[in-house]
Amino acid sequence: MQVLESLLDNFKTELNSIQKIADLLNLKSKYIGKQGPLADVMKNIKDATPEEKRTLGSKANELKNTIEALVSAKMLELETEEINQSLLKNKVDFSLTDTVLDKGLQAAGLHPVTIIQQEIEDIFISMGFEVLDGPHIEDEFHNFEALNIPATHPARDMQDTFWFADKKHLLRTHTSTIQVRGMKERKPPFRFVGPGKVFRCERTDASHEMVFHQLEGMMVGENVSVGNLIYFMKTLLTEIFKKEVEVRLRPGFFPFVEPGFELDIKCLICGGKGCSVCKHVGWVELLPCGMVHPNVLKAGGIDPEKNNGFAFGLGLDRLVMMRYGIDDIRHLHSGDLRFNSQFKTF
Ligand code: DAH
Repeated sequence: MQVLESLLDNFKTELNSIQKIADLLNLKSKYIGKQGPLADVMKNIKDATPEEKRTLGSKANELKNTIEALVSAKMLELETEEINQSLLKNKVDFSLTDTVLDKGLQAAGLHPVTIIQQEIEDIFISMGFEVLDGPHIEDEFHNFEALNIPATHPARDMQDTFWFADKKHLLRTHTSTIQVRGMKERKPPFRFVGPGKVFRCERTDASHEMVFHQLEGMMVGENVSVGNLIYFMKTLLTEIFKKEVEVRLRPGFFPFVEPGFELDIKCLICGGKGCSVCKHVGWVELLPCGMVHPNVLKAGGIDPEKNNGFAFGLGLDRLVMMRYGIDDIRHLHSGDLRFNSQFKTF
Protein backbone atom coordinates (compact mmCIF):
# COMPACT_ATOMS: atom_id res chain seq x y z
CA MET A 1 0.00 0.00 0.00
CA GLN A 2 2.90 2.32 0.79
CA VAL A 3 4.36 1.69 -2.65
CA LEU A 4 1.03 2.60 -4.25
CA GLU A 5 0.65 5.72 -2.11
CA SER A 6 3.93 7.31 -3.26
CA LEU A 7 3.63 5.98 -6.84
CA LEU A 8 1.32 8.68 -8.16
CA ASP A 9 3.38 11.54 -6.75
CA ASN A 10 6.58 10.12 -8.24
CA PHE A 11 4.88 9.63 -11.58
CA LYS A 12 3.61 13.21 -11.62
CA THR A 13 7.04 14.63 -10.84
CA GLU A 14 8.62 12.67 -13.66
CA LEU A 15 5.78 13.51 -16.04
CA ASN A 16 6.37 17.22 -15.53
CA SER A 17 9.84 17.07 -17.00
CA ILE A 18 8.86 15.01 -20.09
CA GLN A 19 9.18 16.85 -23.41
CA LYS A 20 9.25 14.14 -26.04
CA ILE A 21 6.63 11.62 -27.11
CA ALA A 22 9.17 8.75 -26.94
CA ASP A 23 10.06 9.65 -23.35
CA LEU A 24 6.40 9.75 -22.43
CA LEU A 25 5.87 6.24 -23.78
CA ASN A 26 8.86 5.00 -21.79
CA LEU A 27 7.56 6.62 -18.64
CA LYS A 28 4.18 5.01 -19.18
CA SER A 29 5.66 1.52 -19.44
CA LYS A 30 7.99 2.20 -16.49
CA TYR A 31 4.98 2.76 -14.23
CA ILE A 32 2.18 0.63 -15.60
CA GLY A 33 4.06 -1.78 -17.86
CA LYS A 34 4.59 -5.50 -17.15
CA GLN A 35 7.84 -4.88 -15.25
CA GLY A 36 6.57 -1.82 -13.35
CA PRO A 37 5.78 -1.30 -9.66
CA LEU A 38 2.04 -1.71 -10.23
CA ALA A 39 2.58 -5.11 -11.82
CA ASP A 40 4.84 -5.98 -8.87
CA VAL A 41 2.15 -5.10 -6.38
CA MET A 42 -0.35 -7.24 -8.28
CA LYS A 43 2.08 -10.16 -8.38
CA ASN A 44 2.55 -10.03 -4.58
CA ILE A 45 -1.15 -9.59 -3.86
CA LYS A 46 -1.63 -13.35 -3.42
CA ASP A 47 0.05 -13.14 0.02
CA ALA A 48 -2.48 -10.58 1.35
CA THR A 49 -5.71 -11.17 3.28
CA PRO A 50 -8.98 -11.11 1.26
CA GLU A 51 -9.80 -7.72 2.82
CA GLU A 52 -6.39 -6.31 1.79
CA LYS A 53 -6.73 -7.88 -1.65
CA ARG A 54 -9.94 -5.92 -2.25
CA THR A 55 -8.55 -2.52 -1.17
CA LEU A 56 -5.20 -3.07 -2.87
CA GLY A 57 -6.89 -4.29 -6.05
CA SER A 58 -9.21 -1.33 -6.35
CA LYS A 59 -6.46 1.15 -5.38
CA ALA A 60 -4.17 -0.34 -8.06
CA ASN A 61 -6.92 -0.13 -10.69
CA GLU A 62 -7.72 3.43 -9.80
CA LEU A 63 -4.03 4.35 -10.04
CA LYS A 64 -3.68 2.66 -13.41
CA ASN A 65 -6.66 4.60 -14.79
CA THR A 66 -5.37 7.89 -13.42
CA ILE A 67 -1.92 7.34 -14.93
CA GLU A 68 -3.42 6.39 -18.29
CA ALA A 69 -5.57 9.54 -18.31
CA LEU A 70 -2.56 11.71 -17.43
CA VAL A 71 -0.50 10.06 -20.18
CA SER A 72 -3.25 10.69 -22.78
CA ALA A 73 -3.54 14.34 -21.80
CA LYS A 74 0.21 14.81 -21.96
CA MET A 75 0.31 12.99 -25.31
CA LEU A 76 -2.22 15.41 -26.79
CA GLU A 77 -0.23 18.34 -25.48
CA LEU A 78 3.04 17.03 -26.98
CA GLU A 79 1.45 16.21 -30.34
CA THR A 80 -0.09 19.67 -30.63
CA GLU A 81 3.24 21.19 -29.75
CA GLU A 82 4.94 19.06 -32.40
CA ILE A 83 2.45 20.19 -35.08
CA ASN A 84 2.90 23.82 -34.08
CA GLN A 85 6.65 23.49 -34.24
CA SER A 86 6.57 21.95 -37.71
CA LEU A 87 4.15 24.66 -38.92
CA LEU A 88 6.57 27.29 -37.69
CA LYS A 89 9.48 25.58 -39.41
CA ASN A 90 7.67 25.08 -42.73
CA LYS A 91 6.12 28.54 -42.81
CA VAL A 92 4.99 29.72 -46.28
CA ASP A 93 5.34 33.41 -46.91
CA PHE A 94 2.48 34.54 -49.12
CA SER A 95 3.63 38.13 -49.15
CA LEU A 96 6.29 37.51 -51.78
CA THR A 97 4.67 39.58 -54.55
CA ASP A 98 6.86 42.64 -54.08
CA THR A 99 10.01 40.57 -53.97
CA VAL A 100 8.98 38.78 -57.16
CA LEU A 101 8.23 42.08 -58.88
CA ASP A 102 11.52 43.55 -57.64
CA LYS A 103 13.31 40.72 -59.39
CA GLY A 104 11.70 41.79 -62.66
CA LEU A 105 9.12 39.00 -62.86
CA GLN A 106 5.60 39.98 -63.82
CA ALA A 107 2.37 39.46 -61.93
CA ALA A 108 -0.26 37.47 -63.84
CA GLY A 109 -2.90 39.41 -65.73
CA LEU A 110 -5.93 38.89 -67.91
CA HIS A 111 -5.85 38.92 -71.69
CA PRO A 112 -7.93 41.83 -73.06
CA VAL A 113 -10.22 39.41 -74.91
CA THR A 114 -10.90 37.62 -71.62
CA ILE A 115 -11.62 40.95 -69.93
CA ILE A 116 -14.19 41.94 -72.58
CA GLN A 117 -15.68 38.45 -72.70
CA GLN A 118 -16.21 38.33 -68.94
CA GLU A 119 -17.71 41.81 -68.94
CA ILE A 120 -20.17 40.92 -71.69
CA GLU A 121 -21.08 37.63 -70.02
CA ASP A 122 -21.90 39.56 -66.83
CA ILE A 123 -24.09 42.02 -68.75
CA PHE A 124 -26.05 39.15 -70.34
CA ILE A 125 -26.32 37.24 -67.09
CA SER A 126 -27.87 40.36 -65.54
CA MET A 127 -30.44 40.31 -68.37
CA GLY A 128 -31.42 36.69 -67.66
CA PHE A 129 -29.23 34.92 -70.25
CA GLU A 130 -27.38 31.65 -69.65
CA VAL A 131 -23.73 31.32 -70.72
CA LEU A 132 -23.06 28.16 -72.78
CA ASP A 133 -19.91 26.53 -74.07
CA GLY A 134 -19.37 24.43 -77.20
CA PRO A 135 -16.60 22.32 -78.78
CA HIS A 136 -13.96 23.79 -81.10
CA ILE A 137 -13.99 20.65 -83.24
CA GLU A 138 -17.37 20.34 -84.89
CA ASP A 139 -19.15 18.33 -87.56
CA GLU A 140 -20.82 19.62 -90.71
CA PHE A 141 -24.26 19.33 -89.17
CA HIS A 142 -23.64 21.78 -86.33
CA ASN A 143 -21.48 24.21 -88.27
CA PHE A 144 -23.51 24.29 -91.50
CA GLU A 145 -26.52 22.05 -92.10
CA ALA A 146 -28.46 22.82 -88.94
CA LEU A 147 -27.84 26.50 -89.64
CA ASN A 148 -29.60 26.28 -93.00
CA ILE A 149 -26.38 26.01 -95.02
CA PRO A 150 -26.68 22.75 -97.02
CA ALA A 151 -23.65 21.21 -98.76
CA THR A 152 -24.34 22.89 -102.09
CA HIS A 153 -25.12 26.30 -100.62
CA PRO A 154 -22.78 29.06 -101.85
CA ALA A 155 -22.75 30.49 -98.30
CA ARG A 156 -20.29 27.74 -97.36
CA ASP A 157 -17.77 29.73 -99.34
CA MET A 158 -18.37 32.76 -97.12
CA GLN A 159 -16.36 31.06 -94.43
CA ASP A 160 -13.04 29.47 -95.33
CA THR A 161 -12.95 26.31 -93.32
CA PHE A 162 -10.20 24.24 -91.72
CA TRP A 163 -11.30 20.67 -92.50
CA PHE A 164 -9.95 17.54 -90.86
CA ALA A 165 -8.60 14.78 -93.09
CA ASP A 166 -11.82 12.75 -92.70
CA LYS A 167 -13.66 15.62 -94.52
CA LYS A 168 -16.42 15.31 -91.92
CA HIS A 169 -14.97 17.28 -89.03
CA LEU A 170 -13.81 20.86 -88.96
CA LEU A 171 -12.70 23.67 -86.65
CA ARG A 172 -15.85 25.69 -86.06
CA THR A 173 -15.94 28.77 -88.26
CA HIS A 174 -18.39 30.61 -85.99
CA THR A 175 -19.98 30.30 -82.56
CA SER A 176 -23.40 29.87 -84.22
CA THR A 177 -22.79 26.14 -83.67
CA ILE A 178 -23.67 26.78 -80.03
CA GLN A 179 -27.22 27.76 -81.15
CA VAL A 180 -27.92 24.22 -82.33
CA ARG A 181 -26.70 22.52 -79.17
CA GLY A 182 -28.39 25.13 -76.98
CA MET A 183 -31.78 24.70 -78.68
CA LYS A 184 -31.69 20.90 -78.48
CA GLU A 185 -31.02 20.93 -74.76
CA ARG A 186 -33.83 23.28 -73.69
CA LYS A 187 -37.49 24.14 -74.23
CA PRO A 188 -38.69 27.66 -75.10
CA PRO A 189 -38.70 30.27 -73.76
CA PHE A 190 -34.92 30.56 -73.28
CA ARG A 191 -32.07 32.96 -73.90
CA PHE A 192 -28.37 32.24 -73.89
CA VAL A 193 -25.00 33.47 -75.10
CA GLY A 194 -22.06 31.31 -76.19
CA PRO A 195 -18.59 32.88 -76.34
CA GLY A 196 -15.46 31.27 -77.74
CA LYS A 197 -12.69 30.92 -80.29
CA VAL A 198 -13.48 30.45 -83.98
CA PHE A 199 -11.17 29.44 -86.81
CA ARG A 200 -10.93 30.43 -90.46
CA CYS A 201 -8.45 29.49 -93.10
CA GLU A 202 -7.64 33.07 -94.09
CA ARG A 203 -4.63 35.15 -94.91
CA THR A 204 -3.81 37.32 -91.89
CA ASP A 205 -3.47 41.09 -91.93
CA ALA A 206 -4.10 43.96 -89.53
CA SER A 207 -7.81 43.14 -89.29
CA HIS A 208 -7.88 39.38 -90.04
CA GLU A 209 -6.67 36.45 -87.97
CA MET A 210 -7.05 32.69 -88.40
CA VAL A 211 -8.18 32.40 -84.80
CA PHE A 212 -10.50 35.00 -83.36
CA HIS A 213 -13.35 35.30 -80.89
CA GLN A 214 -17.10 35.59 -81.16
CA LEU A 215 -19.99 35.68 -78.77
CA GLU A 216 -23.16 34.13 -80.10
CA GLY A 217 -26.53 35.05 -78.64
CA MET A 218 -30.00 33.61 -79.01
CA MET A 219 -33.42 34.27 -77.56
CA VAL A 220 -36.40 32.05 -78.39
CA GLY A 221 -39.98 32.39 -77.19
CA GLU A 222 -43.56 32.91 -78.33
CA ASN A 223 -43.52 36.52 -79.48
CA VAL A 224 -39.94 37.61 -79.87
CA SER A 225 -39.64 40.71 -82.07
CA VAL A 226 -37.04 42.83 -83.85
CA GLY A 227 -37.87 45.39 -81.14
CA ASN A 228 -36.60 42.93 -78.50
CA LEU A 229 -33.43 42.38 -80.52
CA ILE A 230 -32.75 46.12 -80.78
CA TYR A 231 -33.47 46.64 -77.07
CA PHE A 232 -30.99 43.97 -75.92
CA MET A 233 -28.28 45.05 -78.36
CA LYS A 234 -28.64 48.71 -77.42
CA THR A 235 -28.49 47.92 -73.70
CA LEU A 236 -25.43 45.73 -74.25
CA LEU A 237 -23.55 48.35 -76.25
CA THR A 238 -24.44 51.17 -73.85
CA GLU A 239 -23.04 49.07 -70.99
CA ILE A 240 -19.88 48.16 -72.89
CA PHE A 241 -19.04 51.67 -74.03
CA LYS A 242 -20.34 53.29 -70.84
CA LYS A 243 -22.33 55.83 -72.82
CA GLU A 244 -25.62 55.96 -74.68
CA VAL A 245 -25.06 54.60 -78.18
CA GLU A 246 -27.29 55.08 -81.20
CA VAL A 247 -27.89 52.02 -83.36
CA ARG A 248 -29.37 51.38 -86.79
CA LEU A 249 -30.22 48.22 -88.71
CA ARG A 250 -29.36 47.58 -92.33
CA PRO A 251 -30.39 44.48 -94.24
CA GLY A 252 -27.71 41.78 -94.20
CA PHE A 253 -27.64 38.21 -95.46
CA PHE A 254 -26.94 35.18 -93.29
CA PRO A 255 -28.60 31.86 -94.13
CA PHE A 256 -29.59 31.22 -90.49
CA VAL A 257 -31.68 34.36 -90.08
CA GLU A 258 -34.62 35.88 -91.97
CA PRO A 259 -34.70 38.82 -92.04
CA GLY A 260 -30.99 39.31 -91.37
CA PHE A 261 -29.39 42.60 -90.36
CA GLU A 262 -26.14 44.40 -89.89
CA LEU A 263 -26.38 46.47 -86.75
CA ASP A 264 -24.29 49.66 -86.86
CA ILE A 265 -23.51 52.06 -84.04
CA LYS A 266 -23.10 55.78 -84.50
CA CYS A 267 -19.33 56.41 -84.48
CA LEU A 268 -18.17 57.02 -80.93
CA ILE A 269 -15.10 58.89 -82.10
CA CYS A 270 -16.72 61.62 -84.21
CA GLY A 271 -20.31 61.34 -83.00
CA GLY A 272 -21.54 60.71 -86.55
CA LYS A 273 -19.88 63.62 -88.33
CA GLY A 274 -17.45 61.32 -90.16
CA CYS A 275 -13.82 60.42 -89.39
CA SER A 276 -11.17 57.91 -90.38
CA VAL A 277 -12.44 55.28 -87.90
CA CYS A 278 -15.94 55.21 -89.46
CA LYS A 279 -14.47 55.74 -92.91
CA HIS A 280 -16.36 59.05 -93.05
CA VAL A 281 -19.83 57.52 -92.98
CA GLY A 282 -20.58 58.30 -89.33
CA TRP A 283 -21.56 54.68 -88.53
CA VAL A 284 -19.50 51.62 -87.60
CA GLU A 285 -20.64 48.12 -88.55
CA LEU A 286 -20.56 46.08 -85.36
CA LEU A 287 -23.01 43.28 -85.05
CA PRO A 288 -24.64 40.89 -87.52
CA CYS A 289 -27.99 39.62 -86.31
CA GLY A 290 -31.52 38.68 -87.32
CA MET A 291 -34.69 36.72 -86.67
CA VAL A 292 -33.92 32.99 -86.47
CA HIS A 293 -34.79 31.15 -89.71
CA PRO A 294 -37.62 28.58 -89.29
CA ASN A 295 -35.32 25.83 -90.67
CA VAL A 296 -32.83 26.53 -87.89
CA LEU A 297 -35.55 26.31 -85.24
CA LYS A 298 -36.67 22.99 -86.76
CA ALA A 299 -33.10 21.62 -86.72
CA GLY A 300 -32.95 22.54 -83.04
CA GLY A 301 -36.18 20.63 -82.32
CA ILE A 302 -38.36 23.73 -81.96
CA ASP A 303 -41.75 24.24 -83.65
CA PRO A 304 -41.45 27.43 -85.77
CA GLU A 305 -45.27 27.73 -85.84
CA LYS A 306 -45.30 28.28 -82.08
CA ASN A 307 -41.99 30.00 -81.41
CA ASN A 308 -39.62 32.46 -82.97
CA GLY A 309 -36.48 34.21 -81.88
CA PHE A 310 -33.51 36.42 -82.59
CA ALA A 311 -29.81 35.62 -82.85
CA PHE A 312 -26.63 37.63 -83.14
CA GLY A 313 -22.90 37.06 -83.47
CA LEU A 314 -20.67 39.61 -81.79
CA GLY A 315 -17.01 39.82 -82.83
CA LEU A 316 -15.03 40.23 -79.62
CA ASP A 317 -11.62 41.08 -81.11
CA ARG A 318 -13.07 44.09 -82.89
CA LEU A 319 -14.56 45.37 -79.65
CA VAL A 320 -11.27 44.89 -77.82
CA MET A 321 -9.48 46.84 -80.54
CA MET A 322 -12.00 49.68 -80.36
CA ARG A 323 -11.95 49.81 -76.56
CA TYR A 324 -8.15 49.86 -76.20
CA GLY A 325 -7.20 51.59 -79.43
CA ILE A 326 -5.31 48.56 -80.84
CA ASP A 327 -4.64 48.92 -84.55
CA ASP A 328 -3.53 45.41 -85.45
CA ILE A 329 -5.45 42.24 -84.52
CA ARG A 330 -2.24 40.20 -84.64
CA HIS A 331 -1.08 41.76 -81.37
CA LEU A 332 -3.80 39.77 -79.61
CA HIS A 333 -2.15 36.42 -80.31
CA SER A 334 1.44 37.60 -80.33
CA GLY A 335 2.03 36.24 -76.82
CA ASP A 336 4.22 39.32 -76.30
CA LEU A 337 4.28 40.08 -72.59
CA ARG A 338 4.94 43.77 -73.25
CA PHE A 339 1.53 43.80 -74.96
CA ASN A 340 -0.33 41.47 -72.61
CA SER A 341 0.77 43.13 -69.37
CA GLN A 342 -0.79 46.47 -70.26
CA PHE A 343 -4.21 45.26 -69.22
CA LYS A 344 -5.77 44.36 -65.92
CA THR A 345 -3.48 42.50 -63.49
CA PHE A 346 -4.58 40.74 -60.36
N1 DAH B 1 -22.11 33.38 -87.62
C1 DAH B 1 -21.91 34.63 -88.32
C2 DAH B 1 -20.45 34.76 -88.71
O1 DAH B 1 -19.63 34.23 -88.09
C3 DAH B 1 -22.30 35.78 -87.46
C4 DAH B 1 -23.77 35.87 -87.24
C5 DAH B 1 -24.58 36.57 -88.10
C6 DAH B 1 -24.35 35.23 -86.17
C7 DAH B 1 -25.94 36.66 -87.90
C8 DAH B 1 -25.72 35.31 -85.95
C9 DAH B 1 -26.50 36.05 -86.84
O2 DAH B 1 -26.32 34.71 -84.93
O3 DAH B 1 -27.82 36.16 -86.61
O4 DAH B 1 -20.14 35.44 -89.64
